[in-house]
Formats: sequence, C-alpha cells, structure tokens
Amino acid sequence: MPNLSVSLGKLKLANPLLVASGTFGYAGEYQDLVSLKKIGAIVTKTITLKAQKGNPPPRLCETYSGMLNAIGLENPGLQAFIDKKLSSLRKIGVPIIVSIAADTPAQFARIARRLSSIKSVAALELNISCPNLGKRGLIAQDPQATYRVVQAVKKATSLPVITKLSPNVTDISAIASAAQRAGSDILSLVNTFFGMAVDLPTRKPILGNTTGGLSGPAIKPQALWMLRQVFRATKLPIIGMGGIMNTRDALEFIVCGATAVAVGTANFVNPRVSVEIIAGIKDYLNKNKIKNIKQLVGSLKA
Ligand SMILES: Cc1cc2nc3c(=O)[nH]c(=O)nc-3n(C[C@H](O)[C@H](O)[C@H](O)COP(=O)(O)O)c2cc1C
Repeated sequence: MPNLSVSLGKLKLANPLLVASGTFGYAGEYQDLVSLKKIGAIVTKTITLKAQKGNPPPRLCETYSGMLNAIGLENPGLQAFIDKKLSSLRKIGVPIIVSIAADTPAQFARIARRLSSIKSVAALELNISCPNLGKRGLIAQDPQATYRVVQAVKKATSLPVITKLSPNVTDISAIASAAQRAGSDILSLVNTFFGMAVDLPTRKPILGNTTGGLSGPAIKPQALWMLRQVFRATKLPIIGMGGIMNTRDALEFIVCGATAVAVGTANFVNPRVSVEIIAGIKDYLNKNKIKNIKQLVGSLKA
C-alpha cells in the first residue's frame, strides 16, 4: 500500500485531499452522501465574529467551464458556530480546519484566540482573499496588510496557521513571502478570481452583488501557474486548489508543488469526488510503483 499521509508542518493528514472552504458547508450537509472520515481534512465555510447575512440573491451562476459565486460570507458567527456546528464536525474524526475572516488584525486575533481554546480545531485558515464583499481592496492584495494579519494571528494562537492567498494580484509570490515572514505555517491558494456575468435580455448583472468569484476548471491553468511561483518563492507547505475536478488534476497540483490539494466547485457536481480522488491517487501510486506521495510533491521536470 502506498503511503498517502502528508505533513503540513505540525498539521498531519492521513491523505492529501481536503475539501475547500465554502464548498462543503459544515460537512453535515454531505454526511449521507459521502464517507466523511475518508477525507484528509475538512475546511469549514468561513466564519466571522458576528453572524453575516451574505449578499442578495442570485448568488451563484454557471459560466463556461466554471461558476461564479457571490455568497458574501454568510455564516452564523463565531459563537453559534462553536455551539451548533463544531460538535458534529468533531465527531467525524478527521482534522477540522476552521476558516476565519475579519476586517482588522485585532479582530482576526480575537477569533483565533477563541478557537485556540477548543481542542477539536486542528488549524486555522485565514481567508484574506474573499472577492465578493464589495470592499475596495483585499488584505491579500497588500503584502503589508497580509503581514499584519498573519503576525497578529500568530501571536494569538499556537494552532497551525494557513494563509489563503488571492489570485487577484500582479505578483502572488510577494504576498506569499510576506505571509511567510510573518510566520504563516502553511499557504493555501487560490481563492476565486474576480468575475461577473450579464443577463443580456435585461442588460443587468446576473449576480445580486454584480461581482463574484470565478472557480472551477476555467481557473485551473492560472491556479497551477500561481502555485508554481509560490512553490519557488517560499519554503512553506502549500495546499493547492483551483479547478480540481478529478485525480489527474489533483496530481498535477502535487507535481507542481502542492503538499496537499483542496476540492471546491467539483463538490457541487459530484459530492463524492473527494473520496474518488483519494482512491484514484492510491491507484496512480500503485501503478507507477511510487511508495510515498511525498515523492511526487514538486517533482515537475522543468
Ligand atoms: C460557492 C463557493 C463558496 C465559497 N466560499 C468560500 C469561503 O467561505 N471561504 C473561502 O476561503 N473560500 C471560499 N470559496 C473559494 C474556494 O474555497 C476555492 O478557493 C475556490 O473555489 C477555488 O477552488 P475550486 O475551483 O476547486 O472551486 C468558495 C467557493 C465557492 C464556489
């Protein structure tokens, strides 16, 4: 049997397949459809300090080879998440990564401190890259702002910290390096690309928020390219994502430098895709006589 376990710094996973934030709810929604305990780690939908209603509908729109979403971080807020969602997540028995977002470094630190006191939280993912909140700039578009958020969270927690990067930048490696300098343990990339869609008969935007985030196969080549740049620019373990639909896509991300990968939009097409990809990776390693998944990480011949 090939070894599929991976270490992202202190965060140890039985296999390299995660479900991406916001595409798997709080996992309970999927429990009758897929064997959750087979997934390497579950990343929760992003939570904020206070409950948020999110954006007006429509919030989703299919595009050529992808989808646009403008959910706007709808969530029940930190305390309700802890009270109502965390206990069922804990029972699954796989590492639970809580995705968090806030407006300021101090607020990020406050959420991180609160979650650090809870045993079942395995790591925190800092969503500094949500594209559909109607704000002027993203934290992840500014190296200094990124540095300040990561530094504040690192001071507030001993949990592994994952910084989730935005593809909506000119030089993603500059942001990745800032996160590394501030002490981020792991990087994840990419979040969605800014996008929009038009309803021609009415000449109105399709999304209630006008702007949304593009995900799915349409973004895969760009995500791979950005992953490669970050892999070369930093020493941190990377969770790669962006358009992974099947085993082959997942392996391409690993070869380009991802230690682990996350599946997002594909969950909407096939809720079982994550466990199918885990089986597919195992098959690939067996067929190619590769004993350990780690041998593939960053093995691109370029
Ligand atoms: C409907 C939807 C909701 C999302 N919500 C979040 C979220 O709450 N937090 C976050 O960090 N990313 C969120 N994302 C981004 C995904 O986690 C992922 O980074 C992105 O979709 C790229 O991967 P994919 O092409 O496999 O979907 C969301 C994506 C989709 C499609």
